[in-house]
Amino acid sequence: MNLEVDLPAVLTDTLTDTLADQAVALEAAASPQRIALRGDLLDFTSKPEWGVVESPAVRFREDHWLLIEGGRIVGAQPGDQAPDSSWVRRDHRGQLVMPGFIDTHVHSPQLDVIASHGSELLDWLNTYTFPAERRYGDLVEAEAGAARFLDALLCHGTTSAVVFPTVHKVSADSLFAAAHERGMRLITGKVLMDRHAPEGLRDEAPDFGAKDCVDLIDRWHGVDRLAYAVTVRFAPTSTPSQLAMAGQLCTAYSAAYMQTHLAENRAEVKWVHELFPEARSYLDVYERAGLLNARGVFAHGIWLDEADRASLRDNCAQISHSPSSNLFLGSGLFNWRAAEDAGVAVSVSTDVGGGTSLSMQRTLLDAYKVQALQGERLTAWRALHGATLGAAAALGLGDEIGSLSTGCTADVCVWDWALGPVAQRRHELAQALHERVFAWLTLSDDRNLVTVYVKGAVRYERA
Ligand code: GUN
Ligand code: ZN
Repeated sequence: MNLEVDLPAVLTDTLTDTLADQAVALEAAASPQRIALRGDLLDFTSKPEWGVVESPAVRFREDHWLLIEGGRIVGAQPGDQAPDSSWVRRDHRGQLVMPGFIDTHVHSPQLDVIASHGSELLDWLNTYTFPAERRYGDLVEAEAGAARFLDALLCHGTTSAVVFPTVHKVSADSLFAAAHERGMRLITGKVLMDRHAPEGLRDEAPDFGAKDCVDLIDRWHGVDRLAYAVTVRFAPTSTPSQLAMAGQLCTAYSAAYMQTHLAENRAEVKWVHELFPEARSYLDVYERAGLLNARGVFAHGIWLDEADRASLRDNCAQISHSPSSNLFLGSGLFNWRAAEDAGVAVSVSTDVGGGTSLSMQRTLLDAYKVQALQGERLTAWRALHGATLGAAAALGLGDEIGSLSTGCTADVCVWDWALGPVAQRRHELAQALHERVFAWLTLSDDRNLVTVYVKGAVRYERA
């Protein structure tokens, strides 16, 4: 297949420049140059060991100033050493300051079907999801939906995400534009589907969506904090020809990401075996098509074997674990320990609308419960790491997002430690740090969110 789709380069360059200028102006208006946030700083410097609650990977700096200059973190110092008056000082003493969350798998159009009753994956897709996704072929709907979705992420404390829009080019384009306006780190790409999906949601031969992908890559990939992901919905909705085209895109644009679903539900896995009898496993379908690489984000990965896990590890691909969705759709219990033992990187995601909340705390609590059902006890550290530094590292973005380290972009959230009498009582009684943070993780949600900074600019503030 020939992927050489010529684009008028001058046209796209001009458009990109205009958008970049608008974003810089917006940012300058929204963010003072030097900001100092005082609070309890929590982040990770490396991956906490499985099951260990007293971990050297945890960096807790109680009552410290976090220094932000020009949208970047430039340092931290103890609370009694106030920075001078050249800094805009914001006093969040007694509140928790953390890196913004990273949601590594979420569907923007599916805010429209979140909390839909009564079915498993394949039926849920046909009954609720596909009909809802059809409306995002319309520019007005796509733009409104993108803005609504990103603002919803922000008011849950999620500042970066790996997102599925719809098959429509305009839905991905709108999402990129809206993320650009907000200065967010966003990874997305138009969904590829060319079979087993209704009319209006299918790419067509002869190019199977290739030109739309190339146009979007040329326009957005590498612009500010945006990156393209070749987005194969899942093996059943792509013909072998489309999978091959997607593999060629990954080869041609090796800096682009790849996102898809993998082995989520038993009926789905059976269907994949029927559709691709030549493949050893579900993952092997993707591997044969050239879609398994270090920039691959594979959602779910519940029904895998040891050989699959070894392949994911050897190719440095990550599993994005979506516990809320897995419980809600009855898909199965992800064996995080097996992935850990095999050396596979695992991040955590909401998978809304299969997942029932954009709140990372709620999602991480579901992750804890999924592990508990399998006899494991997920620590608050490993849970939070999977939604911050662990996710960033798996995306190759550990120097930019996921921590409060000097040099990182200032994507920072301020949270109340405890809201309401139950959480407050528990917070007061908590002794050790892990106990305190685990209680926060278990009892908090988006209502605890006070302020969100993206690249040093306030993007959400609780009324
Ligand atoms: N597999 C294919 N598409 C989807 C989707 O939209 N959500 C989930 N959870 N699984 C999928
Ligand atoms: Zn999904």
